[in-house]
Amino acid sequence: MFTKAQTIAALLPASIEQVQSSSAFAPSNIALCKYWGKRDRTLNLANNASLSISLGQLGSYTEVALSASGQDEVRLNGEWLAPEQAFVQKVIAFVDLFRRGQSIPLRIDTTNTIPTAAGLASSASGFAALTLALNQSFGLQLTRQQLSIVARLGSGSACRSVYQGFVEWQRGERADGLDSYAVPLPEQWPQLRVGLVKVSTAAKAVDSRQGMQRTVETASLYQSWPAQAEQDLAAIKAALAARDFTRLGERAEHNALSMHATMIAAWPPLLYWQPGSVSAMQKVWALRQAGVEVYFTMDAGPNLKLLFEQDNLAKVTEQFGDLDVIAPFADI
Ligand code: PMV
Repeated sequence: MFTKAQTIAALLPASIEQVQSSSAFAPSNIALCKYWGKRDRTLNLANNASLSISLGQLGSYTEVALSASGQDEVRLNGEWLAPEQAFVQKVIAFVDLFRRGQSIPLRIDTTNTIPTAAGLASSASGFAALTLALNQSFGLQLTRQQLSIVARLGSGSACRSVYQGFVEWQRGERADGLDSYAVPLPEQWPQLRVGLVKVSTAAKAVDSRQGMQRTVETASLYQSWPAQAEQDLAAIKAALAARDFTRLGERAEHNALSMHATMIAAWPPLLYWQPGSVSAMQKVWALRQAGVEVYFTMDAGPNLKLLFEQDNLAKVTEQFGDLDVIAPFADI
């Protein structure tokens, strides 16, 4: 087993020589083929490869500068946070991986462009933006591939947020994780839209880290997940290459529901759905029955992310009034 510090040591110079102010942006991403379950919980190495779409301008801006006070200072969405807050501790633990014992007090200022009420996780874009900013601040000159590896140490899905567009996270085989990183896919889909259906934006009781661990440890249904995800990934890549929206949507929805089936089969059971999630699913299915091509995907939470094409925007928004619509390729 390798530690995060060992991964970093393989990629970074022995010490940080210079510190400059920097700022970086990374988009949020939504998986169409989900990452669920780790083969290494320390390094966030996935049991299966995954594929996502980045959300253009929705994501995190992070600025890093030397702290004038000599103490680490962390600001989120305009508010300075107390050192004992969980967010600050996560950020500092990640930054410490880069500092490796050197005294380099920093001011880290993150602003999420994801509307706080949109029900989207910001940890993927947050760790990716922080990685990009630290790379500049410390003059590391890491490649995108290395940046993806480092962002993965913050949260698994963050490795996909170092790119826009469709992104595949290759699972890798190595125990040190140096072959587990994201790669951008060449396909563009300007007509593609992602609609955020807000069922609830309350903080969830079980986060994805705990949720996947519980599923892997207790759900016998999980055993079939990695093989299914591999097939889904191949089918989704084929659908992208063929620009076949039906195949893309069907596979993405089926993949998400299969992931949720493994969670429901965990013990204690993990059901992220709320009544509003189910009624939104039923609305999607009714729209499809009526000939409107719309599909959904869901992560470890109650909110739905709709997938449709621009031609159907009016019909979809008519049914889902309060919808944030993202055009992942137009909004870059
Ligand atoms: O990277 P994490 O620990 O936030 O886990 C993400 C898990 C899912 O959102 C459910 C799936 C995915 O691939 O993004």
